[in-house]
Amino acid sequence: MSATTEQQPAPQTAQPAAPGSGARPRVLSGIQPTSESFHLGNYVGAVRQWVDLQREYQPFFFIADQHAITVEWDPKVLRERTLRGAAQLLAAGVDPKRSAIFVQSHVPAHAQLAWVLNGLTGFGEARRMTQFKDKSAKGGEGAASVGLFAYPVLMAADILLYRPHFVPVGEDQRQHLELTRDLAQRFNSRFKKTFRLPEPYILKETAKLYDLQDPTRKMSKSSSSPGGIIEMLEDPKRTAKKIRSAVTDSGAEIRFDLEEKPGVSNLLTIASALTGQSVAHFEEAYAGRMYGDLKKEVAEIVVDFVTPFRDRTLEYLDDQAYLMEVLADGADTAGAVAEATLRDVYQQVGFVAPLRRSAAGA
Ligand code: TRP
Repeated sequence: MSATTEQQPAPQTAQPAAPGSGARPRVLSGIQPTSESFHLGNYVGAVRQWVDLQREYQPFFFIADQHAITVEWDPKVLRERTLRGAAQLLAAGVDPKRSAIFVQSHVPAHAQLAWVLNGLTGFGEARRMTQFKDKSAKGGEGAASVGLFAYPVLMAADILLYRPHFVPVGEDQRQHLELTRDLAQRFNSRFKKTFRLPEPYILKETAKLYDLQDPTRKMSKSSSSPGGIIEMLEDPKRTAKKIRSAVTDSGAEIRFDLEEKPGVSNLLTIASALTGQSVAHFEEAYAGRMYGDLKKEVAEIVVDFVTPFRDRTLEYLDDQAYLMEVLADGADTAGAVAEATLRDVYQQVGFVAPLRRSAAGA
């Protein structure tokens, strides 16, 4: 499937501004802490584009830990993965001076707005979400959690609180974004115009990566075998080995051809995505050479790329004091924006505002 990028944001003049200030149009996105490590497909397909958006937009990027408890989880693992997620964003180049980087559960307004939106969401509307249908298919709807059912409503709250212009997500999240827009519109017409209708910014799959062992399938956490997926944080020696053992195709010619040569094409895509050189460049460089040569060089390219990323991530994880400061700043910036929206919403829907006692008088 070819990716569409609708509503490509018009470039704005770059203008440095503190996170949370209003000088640049806002973008917002979240990533779930559901794996030990980003894989190369996440990095190339999403996180790298978040980094680029920092130049012209004012980003809010968060680790969606509350979404991660909609399916079974282990508390220790969740905590570890949340910190790893944040460290990897920093290692990838998300800059806390330009972007608010935070953990979803640190900003209570997400769950609070989600509750209000639950009251505006139809049961049938939520049930139609294909991700819910897919994820609940295995054990049956009765075994799925209410959290999994309400997942898209929490996602709508994540987004609407910040009134972002654009939400960079993968194609699989498009339906959730449509629900978000529907809910925003419903709220705005039932009450007062409160929410901006966010535009999807569907990430271009410029380089769609495939499983190294089964190159007709997407490289993905849920469907790839350990040998088929390149994890950004695993030992680079293992990564090199995986690439050298990648499945290649019959014949001997090195050329890009997704139908006839999915394995070779995948290696060429990886080389191109990480070096910025075109696929044609690598085809030319490898004319008349052997699959083994290609695998060896792609392994080197990947190792050169992941090693510094991994080192930086491990450094951030070692310096947890710094990491926690970054997340506290992010939550402050995000929390101020989110709470202002929430207060507005509470007022519109008819909640009585509590008497605010000053700390001194309490
Ligand atoms: N559901 C998104 C995913 O799995 C993650 C996410 C949660 C998100 N809240 C969000 C993405 C808000 C964009 C905006 O990829």
